[in-house]
Amino acid sequence: MTTIGILGAGSMGSGIAQVAATAGHEVRLFDTNPVALQKASEKLQKILNRLVEKGRLDDATAKAIFGRIYFSDSLKAYAECGMVIEAIIEHLDIKKSVFSELESIVSQDCILATNTSSLSVASIASACKDPSRVIGIHFFNPAPLMKLVEIIPAIQTSTETTEKSRKLIDTWGKLTILAKDTPGFIVNRVARPFYGEALRIYEEGFADVATIDWSMTELGGFRMGPFTLMDYIGNDVNYTITETVFKAFYYDPRYKPAFTQKRLSEAGYHGRKAGKGYYDYSENAEKPQPNRDKELGENIVWRILVMLINEAADALYLNIASRDDIDLAMTKGVNYPKGLLQWADEKGIQHCVDTMDRLHSEYLEDRYRCSPLLRRMARDGKTFY
Ligand SMILES: NC(=O)c1ccc[n+]([C@@H]2O[C@H](COP(=O)([O-])OP(=O)(O)OC[C@H]3O[C@@H](n4cnc5c(N)ncnc54)[C@H](O)[C@@H]3O)[C@@H](O)[C@H]2O)c1
Repeated sequence: MTTIGILGAGSMGSGIAQVAATAGHEVRLFDTNPVALQKASEKLQKILNRLVEKGRLDDATAKAIFGRIYFSDSLKAYAECGMVIEAIIEHLDIKKSVFSELESIVSQDCILATNTSSLSVASIASACKDPSRVIGIHFFNPAPLMKLVEIIPAIQTSTETTEKSRKLIDTWGKLTILAKDTPGFIVNRVARPFYGEALRIYEEGFADVATIDWSMTELGGFRMGPFTLMDYIGNDVNYTITETVFKAFYYDPRYKPAFTQKRLSEAGYHGRKAGKGYYDYSENAEKPQPNRDKELGENIVWRILVMLINEAADALYLNIASRDDIDLAMTKGVNYPKGLLQWADEKGIQHCVDTMDRLHSEYLEDRYRCSPLLRRMARDGKTFY
């Protein structure tokens, strides 16, 4: 069993460490911030204790998993690792300098993976003398629970690195899909409207955050509302992904970030982890009540859903991934109740086109342009399945 190094002991790093240790690997978990390491250790212990209480693990196994994770404040601990997965701050220059430093410590055949959500893997790999060993391995939050992992070879990545990485992650009980090294890969590209259109509806004053979240969960069948999810992911992280994807798409208005989230991020209202985001997470805070107007709720769901469908159709149109992988990515990566292309068939392709055209003619914004694929399919009477 190869030793796995994890760089960054935040939400993702500690989750991936748990997954690797549960699969039987020795894990080296490193963070520049000793407080983060301490917190990760306490959190992991708590999670493992809870699994024992629930009867999902026996005490000895939980102790063995925890015992396999070595918390380290030095990168030198990575010398014996067969793979290092980086999960530090989403900042290209910092990631590049860390990868370059890592390469001088690890062995020659060690795979260097990044868990980046939105940065170019090719660009991170370019910081290494041997970029063929660098790959994107993108877990979803929370890593121990989410089954999907996107494997993203950069143009420099060797076939051997891709095959070895995929094989290894498959043994961890994950479902791996190959994604192109394009902004947001599959899930973070297709899912942008889930946040962006919800924020737009809120900014236009159609509904408050509690009502939008209620509509998407109660009427739409999504496991979490967009604002609850943004608070869970972290508004700093989520905003940065949106902004990165927006810039990476040459400022396509489809991916335009919202001032509401930018201000929250600037103010430090990062969500659950900060105790405050769209919602207040302090102990005695009152939960805001939604407006349970069914017609309003259904309009909200359809406006967000049609934007998601349009994005999924466009990803297929541009060959980012196959029809099946796009639907699988959204159901297994972010727990959508249905694949978006399957949903499009159920709603009717013509209905999707008509709604997109109505939004476009109302706002006159390129943001609402209908995917050429949907338009062609409606014209030819075709469905995705
Ligand atoms: N949060 C999510 O939902 C999610 C999902 C998938 C991927 N990601 C990606 O995973 C990465 C980490 O995200 P997160 O949510 O865990 O962030 P986080 O803020 O919870 O944790 C980041 C950790 O990295 C540490 N760190 C910063 N610079 C470092 C350095 N130079 N060396 C070592 N440690 C350093 C920080 O101290 C912090 O503990 C990002 O690239 C993010 O885009 C996040």
